Amino acid sequence: MSINQLTAAARLRVDEALAQQLMQASIEPRLAEAMRYGALLGGKRIRPFLTLNIAEICQANPDSALTAACAVECIHAYSLIHDDLPAMDDDDLRRGQPTCHVAFDQATAILAGDALQALAFKLLSADRLNQVPCPQQLQMISVLAQASGGMGMCGGQSLDLMATNKPLTEAQLQQVHRHKTGDLIAASAELGVLCGSAEAQRYRTGFATFAQRLGLAFQIQDDILDVTGSTETLGKPQGSDQQAHKSTYVQLLGLDGARQKLLSLHQQALQSLADIPYNTQRLADFSTALLTRDH
Ligand code: IPE
Ligand code: IPE
Ligand code: MG
Ligand code: MG
Ligand code: MG
Repeated sequence: MSINQLTAAARLRVDEALAQQLMQASIEPRLAEAMRYGALLGGKRIRPFLTLNIAEICQANPDSALTAACAVECIHAYSLIHDDLPAMDDDDLRRGQPTCHVAFDQATAILAGDALQALAFKLLSADRLNQVPCPQQLQMISVLAQASGGMGMCGGQSLDLMATNKPLTEAQLQQVHRHKTGDLIAASAELGVLCGSAEAQRYRTGFATFAQRLGLAFQIQDDILDVTGSTETLGKPQGSDQQAHKSTYVQLLGLDGARQKLLSLHQQALQSLADIPYNTQRLADFSTALLTRDH
């Protein structure tokens, strides 16, 4: 099954719930429109898929899981809006559309990202998560904050900017990719577990390890696709990394080396599922479909 087919049902649920949450996104109509633009127009929804699927495996209440899945996607959408800004990657195409700062303006794009980040934490702290015991709900807020901030995604994005035009060792590049991309993907998995039963909590590390490995492999694949993909199928500018002199796995190891690394990480990710005594076949299928796609 293709990644699109595998995630179709989760995507529908998340798109609908996010649209609902963003109906009254801001008191200022243009900002509200920019937030919806950045969050609703496309996207594979792989992070919400992970949250929903793992929540289901961990016997969670489906409504709580959906709220958590929306929260993580809000952080992701904000990270992309800011990632594309002229001060960062300076890209003008995202999900096949002009980037948020091109469609609106830079100030509005910055605020749309900020407001989506705040919305994520509003969602996680809301009453609608009341099926989750309070200590677990608090941990969900903490996990997403940690994965998003200076110790997580923002820290990784900062390392990424510092690494521009600079040769990195493989260990250093792995650190960039783990934080800028892996941490939020690992948090997506952890949120799924935290929505779940008391018994499932003991497998939180196992799911997080799976997702951290998957996340690193996913960013390596993103580096590969920047070279081998096309602007049309990617929906974002092909060759952007090379043009900006970014440190990537392709630049460090070559295409074949990067592909080898991806394969070995995928094997390691599957290995970490083997220690979890639940049926994780769909997660394994998802990881294979995701990491073998060509766009
Ligand atoms: C793009 O993420 C940024 C990376 C971390 C590689 P996705 O490839 O998940 O972006 P969308 O949400 O599907 O557009
Ligand atoms: C993005 O990495 C990671 C984020 C935290 C947004 P990239 O800069 O490689 O993502 P794309 O290629 O623009 O989607
Ligand atoms: Mg970037
Ligand atoms: Mg970018
Ligand atoms: Mg990229």
